[in-house]
Amino acid sequence: MSDRIPAVIATASSVAILIYACATAPTTTTNPSPNGPARPVTLPAQIPGGQRVPLTDSARRVRDSVNAARRDSGAAMVLRSIAGRENQPAESVFKNIKIFKGIPAGRLVNIMNLGFGRSLGVSCGFCHVIDKWDLDDKEEKTTARLMFAMVQTINKDYISKVPNDRGEQPVVNCFTCHRGNPRPIGPDGQPQRVRPPAGE
Ligand code: HEC
Ligand code: HEC
Repeated sequence: MSDRIPAVIATASSVAILIYACATAPTTTTNPSPNGPARPVTLPAQIPGGQRVPLTDSARRVRDSVNAARRDSGAAMVLRSIAGRENQPAESVFKNIKIFKGIPAGRLVNIMNLGFGRSLGVSCGFCHVIDKWDLDDKEEKTTARLMFAMVQTINKDYISKVPNDRGEQPVVNCFTCHRGNPRPIGPDGQPQRVRPPAGE
């Protein structure tokens, strides 16, 4: 891999982070005051009351590009550190492999980036302390292992039994539910919770 690629990624990343910072910073506007100089007013980035506001399409695009750039630089960092060993089994290159035994180490890094990270719309730091990839100190990482086992069971025991005469075997993956969100959202844009049946 060319040495210039990480630099390009780093530049893209810092530009994107800047845009993101601007997009999420509290909006300052001007209070039109008839009697004096205009006073700056700071509007909250979030509606009070603790309710989460679903992201607008453009805010989501900015977030996705920032996280994609962060993931690319995290993946490039790991790939550099294992250069020459990409095709060895993950468990012989990395320290704490439980679910990806037998797959090539380089492929594990791509799954992290384009499978896990992109499906959840997050960067590596959602599940890892950066550079301490082997630690299981974040709940999100252990949940991801649970999710992986769930997806395997869904595919093996259920989806594989769906009558399918259109050729390719259908499959469920992280994106099927998450669709770019850390927590899958329902039609109201919120994470789904057990709720009493309608009318109660
Ligand atoms: C949704 C959670 C999640 C995200 C996001 C994620 N990882 Fe992981 N990562 C895991 C899990 C789970 C494992 C353990 C895999 C196993 O047990 O086989 C792992 C393992 C690793 C390992 C092996 C560490 C070792 O020594 O055992 C590396 C390296 C790694 N991830 C890098 C990355 C990078 C780089 C990114 C971003 C591009 C990333 N991860 C994003 C969940 C995640
Ligand atoms: C069948 C649907 C489904 C699939 C497929 C699925 N997930 Fe999930 N995932 C969920 C639900 C539901 C939650 C709980 C969300 C909540 O708390 O609102 C969740 C939660 C998580 C969380 C915790 C998020 C948090 O904010 O703490 C992680 C991490 C995660 N999933 C990773 C994965 C990964 C990695 C895959 C693919 C291997 C995957 N999921 C596949 C439905 C799914």
